[in-house]
Amino acid sequence: MSECFLVTGGTGYIGSHVCALLLAAGRDVVILDDLSNSSADVPERLESISGRKPLFYCGDVRDAARLAEIVSAHKPEYVLHFAGLKAVGESGRNPLAYYDVNVGGTITLLRVLQRYGIRRFVFSSSATVYAPDAVMPLTEESPLGPYNPYGRTKYTVERVLLDLAAGDPSWRVALLRYFNPVGAHASGLLGEKPQGEPNNLMPRLCAAAAGATPPLTVFGTDYPTRDGSGVRDYLHVTDLALGHLRAVERLEQAAGVHTYNLGTGTGLSVLELIAAFQAAVGIAAPWTACPRRAGDLAEYYSSPAKAERELGWKAEKTAEDMCRDAWAFYLKAGCARNPDGESK
Ligand code: NAD
Ligand code: UFG
Repeated sequence: MSECFLVTGGTGYIGSHVCALLLAAGRDVVILDDLSNSSADVPERLESISGRKPLFYCGDVRDAARLAEIVSAHKPEYVLHFAGLKAVGESGRNPLAYYDVNVGGTITLLRVLQRYGIRRFVFSSSATVYAPDAVMPLTEESPLGPYNPYGRTKYTVERVLLDLAAGDPSWRVALLRYFNPVGAHASGLLGEKPQGEPNNLMPRLCAAAAGATPPLTVFGTDYPTRDGSGVRDYLHVTDLALGHLRAVERLEQAAGVHTYNLGTGTGLSVLELIAAFQAAVGIAAPWTACPRRAGDLAEYYSSPAKAERELGWKAEKTAEDMCRDAWAFYLKAGCARNPDGESK
């Protein structure tokens, strides 16, 4: 394959890891990102890693004219759509922004793609589409029923894509339901470095371990889980990125909509992740018990069996790998190491 891939949100955490793989595999990559949660130096970092630079356009996925300009110029074979807002807690406080970007942005993008005859689409969905009372592990057939506005935006987009493909069978769509990606690229050049305060656990854990922030706030130690803290299915971001390449190969073979869980199949609690971090990097991150965070569930983890069966994909890396690589990136990215923030 030497097709062109349009990657929205390609300078972000997951998208950048996928771009690194695509570039290394000789594909042409065009990124559209508004840099609202990522850095402008990511394209150069991608070039250092792969020896090839992606084309970068700064723009908003809700801007139809900008999208049309890019799509008509490059006629991408595939669109990988990562651009979006992703924080469960924030989605409860600002649902309109989540519906606007995640749902409105995707519909704007799909309209433009339809106009230019581009119908191969990989969507960043989420484990949050499943119902809170679904039995573990979650399979792709588990009942749906998102529990927070963020999950409802992902569920809504899945529905739109199913309807779109039902009306026009030439669409080829992968709905990838990610569990909890953590870790960073082996080069230390790509990782999770959001603008402003991070919401996700791993960057907060690194900052607390470095002494750059107060102790990590563990949201809920009274859940009905093994140790009272929330349980998620953490997977290494490079494993997750590889799943996208396998999904694209699947779309080469088969039309229609294909849904896959991308996780390890194993749940880890927040306290277990803190322990894995200590085992991996030798630092005991300080933490403090806090009330539950609104919109969170106690526990969920995947069955990744369908992805293994149909895509030949399996997450390989351990929790220690995830912690070690996240910490290496944290240090290399020049994040603060002490309470004075001197090295920031
Ligand atoms: P991220 O914030 O690092 O990446 C998203 C990128 O999209 C950022 O670079 C941001 O600048 C860009 N963006 C945001 N709004 C935009 C807009 N209106 N127009 C153009 N660009 C815009 O997040 P991520 O962790 O890489 O997540 C990527 C996708 O995967 C998101 O859709 C997210 O909802 C989904 N997802 C993430 C996780 C996770 O735990 N990280 C889990 C499940 C699903
Ligand atoms: N947590 C803490 N303290 C923190 C941050 C998080 O205890 O400072 C806990 C949360 O309560 C939860 C776990 O760590 O139990 C993971 O929280 P994250 O914020 O890292 O991730 P979420 O599970 O809330 O959501 C993430 C992405 C979503 C995605 C979902 C899929 O942000 O976009 O994983 O499982 F859809």
